[in-house]
Amino acid sequence: MLDLLMVAAYLQQGRQQSGAGLVISETPNADLEVDTLTPEQAEAELARLAAQLARANSAYHTNDAPEISDAEYDALKQRNAAIEARYPQLKRSDSPSDVVGAAPAAGFGKIAHSVAMLSLSNAFQDEDVAEFDTSIRKYLGLAPDVPLTYTAEPKIDGLSLSLRYEGGKLVQAATRGDGNIGENVTSNARTIADIPHEISGAPEILEVRGEVYMSHADFEALNMRQADRGGKTFANPRNAAAGSLRQLDAEITRARPLRFFAYAWGSLSEPLSQTQWGAIKALEKFGFSTNPLTQRCDGPDQMIAHYRRIEAQRASLGYDIDGVVYKVDDLALQDRLGFRSTTPRWATAHKFPAELAWTRLEGIDIQVGRTGALSPVARLSPVTVGGVVVSNATLHNEDYIKGLDSKGVEIRGGKDIRVGDLVQVYRAGDVIPKVADVDIAKRPQEAEAFVFPTLCPECGSDAVREPGDAVRRCTGGLICPAQAVEKLKHFVSRGAFDIDGLGAKQVEQFYTDGWIAEPADIFTLQARYGAGVQQLKNREGWGEKSANALFVAIEDKRKIPLARLIFGLGIRHVGEAASNMIALHYGTWDALAQGMLDARSLEGPAYEDLIGIDGMGAVMAGSLIGAFAQEAERASIERLVAELVVQEAQRADTSDSPVAGKTVVFTGTLEKMTRAEAKARAERLGAKVSGSVSAKTDILVAGPGAGSKAKKAVELGVETLDEDGWLALIANT
Ligand code: IVH
Repeated sequence: MLDLLMVAAYLQQGRQQSGAGLVISETPNADLEVDTLTPEQAEAELARLAAQLARANSAYHTNDAPEISDAEYDALKQRNAAIEARYPQLKRSDSPSDVVGAAPAAGFGKIAHSVAMLSLSNAFQDEDVAEFDTSIRKYLGLAPDVPLTYTAEPKIDGLSLSLRYEGGKLVQAATRGDGNIGENVTSNARTIADIPHEISGAPEILEVRGEVYMSHADFEALNMRQADRGGKTFANPRNAAAGSLRQLDAEITRARPLRFFAYAWGSLSEPLSQTQWGAIKALEKFGFSTNPLTQRCDGPDQMIAHYRRIEAQRASLGYDIDGVVYKVDDLALQDRLGFRSTTPRWATAHKFPAELAWTRLEGIDIQVGRTGALSPVARLSPVTVGGVVVSNATLHNEDYIKGLDSKGVEIRGGKDIRVGDLVQVYRAGDVIPKVADVDIAKRPQEAEAFVFPTLCPECGSDAVREPGDAVRRCTGGLICPAQAVEKLKHFVSRGAFDIDGLGAKQVEQFYTDGWIAEPADIFTLQARYGAGVQQLKNREGWGEKSANALFVAIEDKRKIPLARLIFGLGIRHVGEAASNMIALHYGTWDALAQGMLDARSLEGPAYEDLIGIDGMGAVMAGSLIGAFAQEAERASIERLVAELVVQEAQRADTSDSPVAGKTVVFTGTLEKMTRAEAKARAERLGAKVSGSVSAKTDILVAGPGAGSKAKKAVELGVETLDEDGWLALIANT
C-alpha cells in the first residue's frame, strides 16, 4: 500500500522529477518551429514555458504587477498548447494549459468546517456490499433477521460543497478542502441556479452538503466556447466544474452552467428527520435538487439490484457518476455507528468497475520513495482510459512484474511483463492506473525479461529485500537524495505540515539547489534567504510578495499539532490515522519521544504501553522505535522539533466525562453492545482503550468469560466493573 501511495505521489508530480533541472534553465529552443522540435527539445521547451508562464501568472495575479503584455502571454500559451498537441505524452503535470485564471487556492479565504467533510469507504464487488451490511450488524449487535433499511443513490462525480443557512438565508459556502478547512466560495455558489439564496421552514442553522457538477451537454458546449476563444479546455466535466467554481471572479462562475445535488448535511440546530430518506425529502421541500434515483432498500440484495439499475442508466443520465452510495437509513443508528478516522461506518460507495485499455509498454522506470522503496513505474504509449490520457501506471513491485503475488503464487497465469509488451491498463476513479495484464501473443521477439536493480538507481547503495517483504529498498537512508526529497515532499503535504506555497515542485527545486536538505531547514529558510546576497524573492518564479507569503506560511506552521508532526516525519507504516492515535495516546512530544526511547528494548512497560494503542502492531511499533533509535534520523528529528512549538493532542471536550483520560480495557463478552461500539463510545468520552492490562490501566470492564486479564487486574489492584457498572458510570454523558 505504502509503495502505491508513493507511486501515486510520483504520478501526481508527473514529470517533475526528470524535469527538475530543466525548469529554470533558459533554452535556445524558443525560436524553433514547433514542427521541427525533437522530443528532448520539446520537453525542455515545455519546462521553460511552464516556468515563464508561472512567473507571468504570479506577477499578474499575486503581485499585481504584470511583467509581460497580454499578447505576449497569449503567444506563450499558444506555443505551449501547440507543443503539447504535437507531443501529448510530454504534457507536464503542472502544464500552463491546466491553469485556470488566477492561482485559486491562495486567493480564497479559509473556512473551518464545524462538522468535518469526510470521504467514503469503497465497495467494489457484490460481496463487499454484503460485507458492509454484515459489519454494520456486527457493530450494532443486530441478528441477520432484524430488518435494516438503507438508502441507495448515485455517487455524483463532481466536487462537494457545504452551504450554511442561518435563519433561512445562505450565509456561507465552502469547498471540502482537506475535510476540516475549505475555501470560501460563497459568492461563486450564489451564482448557481440550483442553490437557493433563501429557504423557508428550515432549522435556524442548517448546513446543506452536496455535489456541484456539470452536465455532459454543458461541458461539451463550454469546451467549444473555450476552444473558439483560444481559452483552456477541460479534460472532463468534474475538472470543468471544479475550475469553474473555484474562480476568484464569481462572474466567471456565473457564466458557467453549474448544478448542485443535495445529499447530506453538516451542522443543524434541530434534526431534519429520523431517517436519511426523510431528511432528503426535507431538503427537497426547502427547494434543493436531490437525485431522483435515490431509493430505500431492505438489505444487500435490493441494494445490488438498484446498483444494477443505476449502472444500466449511467450512460444516459447526462452527467458523470462513478458508483452508488449506500447509507443506513435510521439516523439514530447512523449516530451509534459513528465514524472511523476519515469515513463514516454507516455509508459506503459501491464503485463502478474500472475502465480498461491496451497499449504498449515503452519502458520501466524505478522510482525511489520516501522510505527507500524501489517502485517500478510503467512508461506507456499514451492511451485514453475512461476519458483520461494515461502514460504512466504502477507495476507495484518486482514480483508483480515476474507474474507472482506477494506469497509467490502465480498471477496472470505466471506471465511476466516486458518492455515492448502490449499491456492492459486500468483505472478506477481517481486511483493510480495499473498494468493489469499482458498479451504474450503480441510480444516482440527481442523483448527480454526485466531485470530489477539491486542497487539504488539514485544513490547506488545496495537495494535489499527483507524476507517476507515484497518491496526492495534502498539502504542509503538520508544519504539517498531520492529518499531525502521524497521525505521533504511528504513533510509539506496536506495531512502533514501543509505549507501554502511550498509544494512538491518548490521542495524539489530548493533541494536541488541545496537550500533545504531536511525538514528543519524549512524553518530557517527566511533567516538564510530572507535578506542578504541570495534572496528568495530574486529566484526565478518568485517575487517580493510570493517570498514574503511563503515566509508567513512557514511561520504559521511553526506551531503544529502533535499528530501532524508525527505524520509529517514520514515514518514507514505510520499513516495519518495512526499518527492521530499515537498523538492522543502520548499527548505531548516529550512523552512520545521518551516513550520511544524507553521502548527500545522491545519489552517492558513502555513497549507494552505502545503496543497497547489500538491499531498498533509489532511492525508499526518497530518502525516508530527505529526512527527514534537511529542516530542520524533522531538528530534530524531533534533539529526539527527545536524549531517548532508542538501543540498537545486535544481530545474532544470531555470535561464532563468521568472517564476522560482514563485507560480502559474491555474483556470477556459484552451483552448490551459489541466490543467495537463499546470502544468507540469510550474513546468519544475521552478514555484510552487498550488491549492489555498493565499498571497504567484504570478500569477493566469484564463481561462473562473474562480470564487472564481479569486475574491480572486483581493482582495489580485495577478497578474492575461489569458491563452494567460501566454503563452506569458513563450514563448521563
Ligand atoms: S455522502 C460522510 N452521497 O463522494 C460522507 N457523497 O468519496 C458524506 N459524493 O466527498 C458523503 N455523491 O463529494 C455522499 N450521493 C452522495 C455522493 C457523495 C458524491 C462524494 C462526496 C464525498 C465523496 C466521498
